[in-house]
Amino acid sequence: MPTNDLMEKLVSLCKRRGFLFPSSEIYGGLNSFYDYGPLGVELKNNVKRLWWQSMVQRRDDVVGLDAAILMHPKVWEASGHLQNFTDPLVDCKQCKRRFRADHLLEATGSKPDLGTMKTPAGLPKVCPECGGELTEPRRFNLMFKTFMGPLEEASSVVYLRPETAQGIFVNFKNVRDTMRPKLPFGIAQIGKAFRNEITPGNFIFRTREFEQMECEYFCHPREADRWYDYWRQERFNWYVDVLGINKKKLRLRDHKRDELAHYAKACADVEYQFPFSGWSELEGIANRQDFDLKQHATFSGQDLEVTDEAGKKFTPYVIEPSAGADRATLTVLVDAYTEVEGGRTTTTESNKELEVVMRFDKKVAPIKVAVLPLSKKETLARPAREIFDALRSRWTCTYDEVASIGRRYRRQDEIGTPYCVTVDFETLEDKKVTVRARDSMKQERIGIEELEDYFKDNL
Ligand code: GLY
Repeated sequence: MPTNDLMEKLVSLCKRRGFLFPSSEIYGGLNSFYDYGPLGVELKNNVKRLWWQSMVQRRDDVVGLDAAILMHPKVWEASGHLQNFTDPLVDCKQCKRRFRADHLLEATGSKPDLGTMKTPAGLPKVCPECGGELTEPRRFNLMFKTFMGPLEEASSVVYLRPETAQGIFVNFKNVRDTMRPKLPFGIAQIGKAFRNEITPGNFIFRTREFEQMECEYFCHPREADRWYDYWRQERFNWYVDVLGINKKKLRLRDHKRDELAHYAKACADVEYQFPFSGWSELEGIANRQDFDLKQHATFSGQDLEVTDEAGKKFTPYVIEPSAGADRATLTVLVDAYTEVEGGRTTTTESNKELEVVMRFDKKVAPIKVAVLPLSKKETLARPAREIFDALRSRWTCTYDEVASIGRRYRRQDEIGTPYCVTVDFETLEDKKVTVRARDSMKQERIGIEELEDYFKDNL
């Protein structure tokens, strides 16, 4: 299947089945902003919950945090974002379109050097869209600015955070003073971040509002390389072992020196081979050294050092696994999307049609069990509702009594529900139901009394 077709189909399925909607759609949408629908929010919550379980709940050495999105403006001076978090841009004087200078340069086959803002040799002088004259490149800061309080003046400027990481660094002292963790230890947080990207796109891959899942893992400088290697591998494994992503479509790629952010000594990306863009970043694991804590110590005047066994003071190094919750969710969607030509089910009306199965790992599937009474008649609806009520207290379930059973199975396959429970007339006699598995389509008769144990074992 051509790769763009696949993306078009996935975007359409996401809209049709309630995973993702264009933001403010009744007003024509807002470019590259999306809303998670009823199934999308379940899916993304599962991704975030699995990250939190792996990174916080199941570890002795990491605690959680949820910091405010708006922070003191000095934070962004100290972090270097005011100065360095920029893209080099050129404007077309004629059509007013704006381009990233490095992208224009790449398109000519040259290698961009973004270290200086001197106009690089080879940078096109005319607009690729209309042929108009282009301006010289200038730095454009990616942080969204707003005003706090009633006055729109320089002293009330605040920024929407471009990364959650700084909320962690400025709480380093609070967490140490309250929780008394010993090095090495981490602080993890999930939260929204905002970047005024010039070229957002590829569905929810690059959006101006997005959600990060970041951990800052503080350690002794002499142990930083070891912890960097550890997190590099640990985070790669998470996508395979926990999210259930196809390992063949994942890789770890080390950054070259000229790709490193201003604070990093080393960085590796976990990448997925997306149909629309090839290998693209899901998560970066960076050795940020002591850059941030030292900067905040200088700018705030607070002591952010720790003391080692010998009584010597030092600033810890930090290893940062920084993942995108939306990118992880998109990966789960892309990786799960499967088409079966000619259909899998055998009922006449669905025969020979193309079937779509979302083969989500059971842990991430938005709905775990669908309860389907064979008929809407009260004699079947009553026991079916009872089963539904019992199961939904533990798992996310749905109830569907509309259309033929074959159609209903297909509807559940299309949203990746791992199990369907069918209540039929025999159920009234033998107190058993049919449990149908999404991937194997195997059907088993299971006693109603045993259902909970069955799903405990299988989900
Ligand atoms: N904290 C690293 C990043 O936002 O890319």
